[in-house]
Amino acid sequence: MTAEPQAWVTRVERALRQALARSTPDDEASRRFVEALGYASAGGKRLRALMVYASGGAVGATAERLDAVAAAVEFTHAYSLVHDDLPAMDNDDLRRGQPTVHKAFGEATAILVGDTLNTLAFEVLAADEALDADTRIRLVACLAAAAGARGMVGGQVLDLAAQTGGDTPLTLEALTTLHHRKTGALIQTCFDMAGIAAAASPTEQNALSACGAALGLAYQIQDDVLDVDANTAELGKTAGKDARDGKQTFVSLLGLAAARDRANIAFDRAQDAAQRLRQPAALLDLMDTIRQRRH
Ligand code: IPE
Ligand code: IPE
Ligand code: MG
Ligand code: MG
Ligand code: MG
Repeated sequence: MTAEPQAWVTRVERALRQALARSTPDDEASRRFVEALGYASAGGKRLRALMVYASGGAVGATAERLDAVAAAVEFTHAYSLVHDDLPAMDNDDLRRGQPTVHKAFGEATAILVGDTLNTLAFEVLAADEALDADTRIRLVACLAAAAGARGMVGGQVLDLAAQTGGDTPLTLEALTTLHHRKTGALIQTCFDMAGIAAAASPTEQNALSACGAALGLAYQIQDDVLDVDANTAELGKTAGKDARDGKQTFVSLLGLAAARDRANIAFDRAQDAAQRLRQPAALLDLMDTIRQRRH
């Protein structure tokens, strides 16, 4: 990683730490729960935060204006992973190279950790003094829409329905919608929110949105590919699980080579949209890094 993304990771880690310290209880009875919140928030590539800094920077925002947005998307994402791993959902044992939150702390705690991280995302946005009140309200509304029933949660609903739906494969169109929602919506909102914090023009806002939507789709197709193509040690989560669980993925529908092609097409589209921004160099670098990722 070059110097800039490393500095962005440091910034978002600090923002996450501060938000947790400010908003969690310090009584003895809550100690183990607060530990679980820290555990669930730790690790991870922080790519969504990097997308916020890189896309906001591409339209002229300072990092100070983007810290709360970067922390918010990482809190939402962390919550989504804790719940995604629960026995009632994907039933996973390993996440970010560690036992999943329900394995380490129990299922009830994992549910409550997810709930808390979800609320923290909105708290950091609402409380951010670097932004005016109107901007904060727009950010809260944007994240709520992306994370809710028409976005990320809605995508998880489609994912589980397709898995239990038995042998009927989804159409490519239906699977694309599923991926746009379950992973694409939150990634697109990284770009949309960065544009709001940057007070971007409508033209810039459109380019950001198009870039985020394409990158979000590419990201989940790549996640499907890596589930087959990488091993558990590389991923820090259980490889080969999608096929065992009967998940419908771009690989199950199209095969590995065609899934890779689809990811590349979406990455190319994201790159084209990024070229329309004022200062896209760091964003283009980040997207190259993501395209080459092995975990
Ligand atoms: C994994 O996301 C789940 C998806 C939505 C694809 P990441 O691979 O970005 O997870 P972390 O944050 O780096 O652990
Ligand atoms: C996760 O998709 C999507 C969300 C958490 C919203 P996956 O179930 O494919 O993610 P991994 O592979 O467990 O990280
Ligand atoms: Mg899942
Ligand atoms: Mg999963
Ligand atoms: Mg996956």
